[in-house]
Amino acid sequence: MPASTATPAWQALQSHAKTLARIRLADLFAQDPGRAARFTLGIDGLAADFSKCRITNKTLDLLQALGREADLARWIERLFSGEAINTTEGRAAMHMALRAGPGASIAVNGEDVMPAVRTQLARVESLSTAIRSGTHLGFDGRAIRHVVVIGIGGSYLGPALAVEALAGVQPTGPQIHFLANVDGGRLEQVLFGLQPATTLFVVISKSFTTAETRINAEDARAWFLAGGGRPEDIAQHFLAISNNEAAAAAFGIAPERMLSIWDWVGGRYSLWSAVGLPVAIAHGYPTFEALLDGAADMDAHFRSAPPTGNLPVLLALLGLWHNVALGAETAAVVPYDSGLEKLPAYLQQLVMESNGKGVDRNGRPVTMPTAPVIWGGIGTEVQHAFMQALHQGPRLLPVEFIGVLEDRHGRPKQHLTLLANLIGQAEALMLGHPDADPAKASPGNRPSIAILLDRLDARSLGLLLALYEHRTFVEGVIWNINSFDQWGVELGKRLAQRIFGEIAGETPGTHDASTAALIARVRAV
Ligand code: F6P
Repeated sequence: MPASTATPAWQALQSHAKTLARIRLADLFAQDPGRAARFTLGIDGLAADFSKCRITNKTLDLLQALGREADLARWIERLFSGEAINTTEGRAAMHMALRAGPGASIAVNGEDVMPAVRTQLARVESLSTAIRSGTHLGFDGRAIRHVVVIGIGGSYLGPALAVEALAGVQPTGPQIHFLANVDGGRLEQVLFGLQPATTLFVVISKSFTTAETRINAEDARAWFLAGGGRPEDIAQHFLAISNNEAAAAAFGIAPERMLSIWDWVGGRYSLWSAVGLPVAIAHGYPTFEALLDGAADMDAHFRSAPPTGNLPVLLALLGLWHNVALGAETAAVVPYDSGLEKLPAYLQQLVMESNGKGVDRNGRPVTMPTAPVIWGGIGTEVQHAFMQALHQGPRLLPVEFIGVLEDRHGRPKQHLTLLANLIGQAEALMLGHPDADPAKASPGNRPSIAILLDRLDARSLGLLLALYEHRTFVEGVIWNINSFDQWGVELGKRLAQRIFGEIAGETPGTHDASTAALIARVRAV
């Protein structure tokens, strides 16, 4: 099916959107006391209230027709069957296998991958337990006190988000530091005050060719050797998590110090693999297991719930409603919980690297907008930053608020203030505020979705992140695009490598006048 709004389902939705344009949210609530309850869907610890979206029952019916037209049910089965639906790379997208649990048997390319998955999870458990218990010793016999995780993109965002989201006030294990950007200042900050003898480096790179990660890992190794570590100590102080054993070995990491990930797991879907080792080190393997269990619960829901009661499907359809039918270019994510500070960045990669595509599965240009720009920040901080534009600006800027009901810090005043602001912002966006002075009036009628977690624990986080994974997949199916490749990131990397050579002293190549001038300015320093 071409990714076009010319299909019957899209045509019906577009004309419906025009009829709804004049309807106000406040009126929809006034006409229907049961609206909020009907447009709230929850599963076991997580509930989404989408009643403040400008929709009616008919809207949802027309949106569901998009899924039927795209044969969504068959695509969901193809995803879970291990079929190579990542067609440009000839791979399956089987991140669900990573959390499928002990009894599962899942075939990819005709082979049951679960024994290998279980082997790697067992290694995550044994390594994290040894490091946390102090039995994994450094070269001078002292226990590891700091773990530096080197990786970027999906080799950073998921682990960093989960380590931070699940952190208590006091670390229960070694202190975890993340080094993602190839920035000398960040490298210095991370290494400051650390000692090679009590520091473990975890190099996470599926390809083991990512320049930033390679450069950081080489500098970390140099720092280690300059600080008393010997080459024979590398094995005790460097671990690799990768799909490229040869490159990791060439770096100096022995195979027995390497944990594997597979090509049927996309980087932005890899938190559930050995990439999640930092989570197990920081919070214990049982916590990492609970994260996997939460994601598995969402997998079961996604695979079994009917489309009208399927949370990933509904949120995907609402995203299409906002971003295609109503023309919103962006989607804001605003967690009212500082533990989820990295969620917007995590979702930027998940959504924009999965669905920021311009051609459909048949290689034809898409004829509608695909991935929205994902942005956001933490509530209440964003109320002192960009919420002004959502309340009074001319753009339609749909927002997803995420709140946590349980006060896990024992600070009721702070906690209830957070939740009161989340609810207040959503109400203000919907109701607006008339005022004789136009500068003081807020138009209202602005959509938001409120997702409330009962608590922010490992299982709930797994449930939430898997919800977004599957929502991203559903949107990709309806756009008829491949959500699991990312060819667009390659050109910039290639050009940067060439320019690095020219900046570093080689004779400059031919470039446009701007690029040539920029290179010249750097060379002149
Ligand atoms: O951004 C491109 C990308 O390939 C991501 O998909 C990936 O998560 C990241 O770079 C890091 O890749 P690797 O894990 O191979 O270092």
